Amino acid sequence: MKNFFSVEDVTDVYDLVKDALLLKKNPYNFKNFGRNKTIGLVFFNPSLRTRISCQKAASNLGCNTWVLDIHQDSWKIEMSDGNIMKTTQEHLKEAISVMSIYCDILAVRTFPNLLDKEYDYQEVLFHKILKYSKVPVVNMESATLHPLQSLADVMTIAEFTSFFKKRCKVVLSWAPHIKPLPHSVANSFSQWISKIDQIDFMMTYPERYNLHKKFSNGISTTYNQNEAFINADFIYAKNWSSYLDYGKIICKSFEWMITEKKMKLTNEAKFMHCLPVRRNVVVEDSVLDSKYSIVLQQAENRIFASQIIFLKILQYLS
Ligand code: CP
Repeated sequence: MKNFFSVEDVTDVYDLVKDALLLKKNPYNFKNFGRNKTIGLVFFNPSLRTRISCQKAASNLGCNTWVLDIHQDSWKIEMSDGNIMKTTQEHLKEAISVMSIYCDILAVRTFPNLLDKEYDYQEVLFHKILKYSKVPVVNMESATLHPLQSLADVMTIAEFTSFFKKRCKVVLSWAPHIKPLPHSVANSFSQWISKIDQIDFMMTYPERYNLHKKFSNGISTTYNQNEAFINADFIYAKNWSSYLDYGKIICKSFEWMITEKKMKLTNEAKFMHCLPVRRNVVVEDSVLDSKYSIVLQQAENRIFASQIIFLKILQYLS
């Protein structure tokens, strides 16, 4: 694997999940593979899980890491081309080129602006980074995708189904939030889960919250959340802002919050969320604190999702 931008960079999702779960059993099997290698982690937006799980993953492989929070630790970066740089101090071109000299793999989180749909959905910033980097690039959440999260999510479902031994119903449910959020987790989850034949996947969300057709075509959807929950084995809760009314919050109803009462409609479904989560906004305390919540397993699997991707790239480089 040269770069990791999305599920499209993966030859076989089943094999990747299997390899990642093997790494989880033996995290230090490749501890000499990353000797004298460095992974640079660059954040244009905040992170807890991604930042630390990637550092842990790199450490398990014997790699060094450095981390840069662009907004706190660096010069003000100019993203546009041809501007007279009166208010910015360094252009993305030099910044990325230089940082890529200082590492063997560059992992980057960019996020969307949620104002300009074309700019976000063409992944303009991430493609510039790919162009300017002299080393392989890993997507730690771009404007429209969060593939490391989705790989961890699929691994988690695999663990709870004895590697997809029997068919299961997975529901991605929109849930309320007070801030407009990116679509990346929902988009990627839909992409990755659709690769697993043994999963009956459906989405439920309020009107005008459908995802871009690339991530929703052919997927069963309903505006009736209760109906979607019936017989579900996994409920994945996530808020996203509107795609059609780009970046806007249209539904302000807390009726969509995940509650214990709604979870009773399911087949004792496991509750999933990528975190961070706002308690009693997205999901009731009693659901998050119940034995059905597997959010910590998802977070743990972030380590091995990153580790398998770093390993595949190191193998490509060797
Ligand atoms: N789920 C996730 O990506 O968490 P962070 O934003 O804390 O990295």
